[in-house]
Amino acid sequence: MLEVKITRMTKDDVDEVVHIEELVHPNHHWSKDSFYNEIANNLAYYYCAKNTENKIVAYIGMWHILEEAHITTLAVHPDYRRMQLAQALMIAAIEGCYKEMIKFITLEVRESNIAAISLYEKFLFDSIGMRKKYYQDNGENAIIMFTQNIWYDKFKNNFSAIKEGISKIKVCRSGIA
Ligand SMILES: CC(C)(COP(=O)(O)OP(=O)(O)OC[C@H]1O[C@@H](n2cnc3c(N)ncnc32)[C@H](O)[C@@H]1OP(=O)(O)O)[C@@H](O)C(=O)NCCC(=O)NCCS
Repeated sequence: MLEVKITRMTKDDVDEVVHIEELVHPNHHWSKDSFYNEIANNLAYYYCAKNTENKIVAYIGMWHILEEAHITTLAVHPDYRRMQLAQALMIAAIEGCYKEMIKFITLEVRESNIAAISLYEKFLFDSIGMRKKYYQDNGENAIIMFTQNIWYDKFKNNFSAIKEGISKIKVCRSGIA
């Protein structure tokens, strides 16, 4: 079973994160400076999943703005897909939202990104609109997705069920504030 620890992203993680970015988004990846700027921002909550060799295998980024959180990035190394890593990172990020009394979570996703849309739907995000030609690299539309209030039973019960369903990986958390 894959064992990972989830930590807040630091400057020391950025080289590895950008390496995964290049693999995942060859034509439109974020730069090192983008990540340095992001993690220096007080509103930003970025997490990495690291394997037992301390190698980063996935990461997620989120902004907390008043009662709303915005997922800015999420990627899993291609060799580590379908092992529940994205779910584990979503869980860590959403638990961070509960700690900070966030009520709603939103994001934009490419309309062709079936895997990601399915992941977010699993967490009960709904599609609430579209930003036409949002992505500059290919002019693709973005689907805007939103949760209901994450404190409502429906969201919480589903969230608990997802947590209980994590069986392919063992997750330990460290350094998460
Ligand atoms: C989308 C992504 C993050 C999923 O990561 P992952 O660790 O493989 O996902 P998980 O194993 O945690 O799967 C969680 C859910 O995502 C969905 N999912 C993941 N991969 C999928 C695929 N290839 N096809 C359809 N659904 C998929 C499923 O709903 C899955 O739940 P299930 O296993 O109960 O069916 C990963 O494919 C990725 O990094 N893609 C490239 C970057 C990206 O698209 N990021 C999102 C930007 S908005």
